[in-house]
Amino acid sequence: MAEEQKLFKVTIDNITIDVPAGTTILNAARTIGGEVAPPAMCYYSKLAGSGGKCRTCLVEVAAGSTADPRPMPKLVASCRTTVMDGMIVKNITSEKVIDARKGVVEFLLINHPLDCPICDQAGECHLQDLGYEHGAVQTRYEFKRRTFVREDIGPYIQLHMTRCILCYRCTYVADQITNKRVHGILERGDHSEISTYISKAIDNDFSGNMIDVCPVGALTDRTFRFKNRVWFLKPVEAHRECDKCCGKVTLWNRGDEVYRVTARKDEWGEVQSYDGKPGWICNTCRFDKKHVSDWTIEGPSRINRHSVISQGHYVDTVKPKDPLNKVLQGRSPVLLLDIHNKSEVNRPEIHLSDIPGPATSTTFIEHNEPEDIAKVNEVRIENNDHKHLPTN
Ligand code: SF4
Ligand code: FES
Repeated sequence: MAEEQKLFKVTIDNITIDVPAGTTILNAARTIGGEVAPPAMCYYSKLAGSGGKCRTCLVEVAAGSTADPRPMPKLVASCRTTVMDGMIVKNITSEKVIDARKGVVEFLLINHPLDCPICDQAGECHLQDLGYEHGAVQTRYEFKRRTFVREDIGPYIQLHMTRCILCYRCTYVADQITNKRVHGILERGDHSEISTYISKAIDNDFSGNMIDVCPVGALTDRTFRFKNRVWFLKPVEAHRECDKCCGKVTLWNRGDEVYRVTARKDEWGEVQSYDGKPGWICNTCRFDKKHVSDWTIEGPSRINRHSVISQGHYVDTVKPKDPLNKVLQGRSPVLLLDIHNKSEVNRPEIHLSDIPGPATSTTFIEHNEPEDIAKVNEVRIENNDHKHLPTN
């Protein structure tokens, strides 16, 4: 007969719950959820061995256990400390914790640039959220910040080491879900950096998952960089038959265009599990299936309450009856309003999501044939808008 699981009683921020012996304080707090769960920048429940690096999850243990109710002398990393029976933990109810968290955020931001306005991770960056919640108005650091040259590691991922907080998550992904790791943390102390060995490209089939686990904008998707802000995109759940991965993804669309594909994330920003297994996705699903027709759409994604992405994305709303059909007497509004039938300027066949790299003012001209440029110029002259006419 299977042995009955031993349960421990733990009180976190005055809420008492029972959790199996061996549960960490962080995971116990996550079962309560909301603000009671400490933030975590390096722990990732689906990556064995992660945690213990960033110190954002510090909590105060006001009583160690029923057997030994003495408080723990220092704040402890909740992702690495397991609960004891009768333990009393303080997270947001502890001034010491809030103060320490401020210090940790200040420390993480010593070298991390405040370039959120141009960073692709903005809107889904855990450090940005922490900065808003606990950040100091100005830095006390007087030394030169570390800066690195951006590096393309393989065809799909760009490493911007200046933004890395050395959480090690990406190295665990490479170790645990790809068949060979070609990158790691080199050097020591403030010389530490993530790098590929002898500039080897990361071309493994599951390497894209490193982008999903990076809590900041240090590893970004080269096929999506500077294409759009995440809060302008509409995330929808979709799936396809895939022989390499679970095929369950989130598509980030604008109109009918798929701008990027990611694994589905849970409320802690971690990849969701299916049948007890993490739903990592392969590079084919992530980078090669960028058309709505490649996917079976399930419906809008539910977004974590913390995220700016949820702004303006409503599910289960009741829409008022659309009077347009009646007004247009059955004619299709697309026929009336399709600007591409009227204008030569737009190139609807060029999908921003398909072009390599970010769009610039010359993107469309570069794709134009000479006769197209002539047509564009004609239209501009007609409209008296000929100050910056392109020539070929
Ligand atoms: S690149 Fe990202 S995931 Fe990797 S260690 Fe740095 S912050 Fe963590
Ligand atoms: S999440 Fe616990 S130390 Fe980083």
